[in-house]
Amino acid sequence: MKASILALPGDGIGPEIVAAAKRVLAAVGKRFGHEFTVSDALIGGAAIDAVGTPLPEPTAEAALAADAVLLGAVGGPKWDDAPVRPEAALLGIRKRLGLYANLRPARLYPALAGASALRPDILARGIDLVIVRELTGGIYFGERGYRGGKFGREAFDTECYSEIEIERVARIAYELAEKRGRRLCLVDKANVLTSSALWRKVVTDINEDYPTVAVDCMYVDNAAMQLVRDPSRFDVIVTSNMFGDILSDLAAALVGSIGVMPSASFGATAAGMYEAIHGSAPDIAGQGKANPVGTILSAAMMLRHSFDLGAEAAAVENAVAKVIAEGKGTPDIGGALTTDEMTEAVIAALPEE
Ligand code: IPM
Ligand code: MG
Repeated sequence: MKASILALPGDGIGPEIVAAAKRVLAAVGKRFGHEFTVSDALIGGAAIDAVGTPLPEPTAEAALAADAVLLGAVGGPKWDDAPVRPEAALLGIRKRLGLYANLRPARLYPALAGASALRPDILARGIDLVIVRELTGGIYFGERGYRGGKFGREAFDTECYSEIEIERVARIAYELAEKRGRRLCLVDKANVLTSSALWRKVVTDINEDYPTVAVDCMYVDNAAMQLVRDPSRFDVIVTSNMFGDILSDLAAALVGSIGVMPSASFGATAAGMYEAIHGSAPDIAGQGKANPVGTILSAAMMLRHSFDLGAEAAAVENAVAKVIAEGKGTPDIGGALTTDEMTEAVIAALPEE
């Protein structure tokens, strides 16, 4: 098949990990006979430096035209005081592409147990869960600002969700649960928030369309505790934008390193966007220390979800698992390989055609 991919390297370690994933995609293309055309565009601080704005219009248009988007990372101390921060570009492109559902799988590679924050007896039960994070609504996009208050200036942000916004992401989570362990957990704060009460109603109402899926609802504070006590009890979690952001970093600490966590985002438009869940890690940028696995696994999710290339996706995932099982890795997972060496090792572990 032929596909056009837009790469958005961005800032910090972004260019290094995107380069790694591109090499893996090229190797997959060669071995399985596909033609992936990859072009680059500016985003984040790199775009601020080059053209004065973090999400230039040509980037948004190229993303809309591409078959899929591969994103590195954005942000860094250099742009902390910029009038529009690099992070605004990330939120902006998610919104422009209508990417309302963000899948963040967390699985434990047995060889990484030592890097996990959990005890071996908890890890022995395994971790294989997916957080489905709502990505274009809630407090990230709600009404916000400053106003005069009783005691002087105050700042506010608002959490607002419509039934449609909840339903469409919940349906993606249900469909995913149908293909996995058939357990869906809605994480909310319905004991306090009105918006969470609506999430509960919508998510439980549509359960009748997915009769094989068992749904339960959990308050986010309890969910954080249960994830640490026994992550094996979770299959698919569906939650709001902010709760999903927080819990996915927590899940990263359970599986060993945030460097191995991929994500895929979908929406109404055809193009999906794929990005590791970690940030731009400016402290290690340009040193060859970045773990390319999160982005390589994100590229695998692209192969599966955007291009329907399930066998190719599995080949990449198996290659990563094999390399990690051999004890190879970047420093964040206790290894001694550079970004390039790790990428080479994954490519070498791909099956021959
Ligand atoms: C993530 C990141 C972003 C988010 C930041 C960089 C804006 O933390 O993708 O998890 O909060 O969505
Ligand atoms: Mg985050």
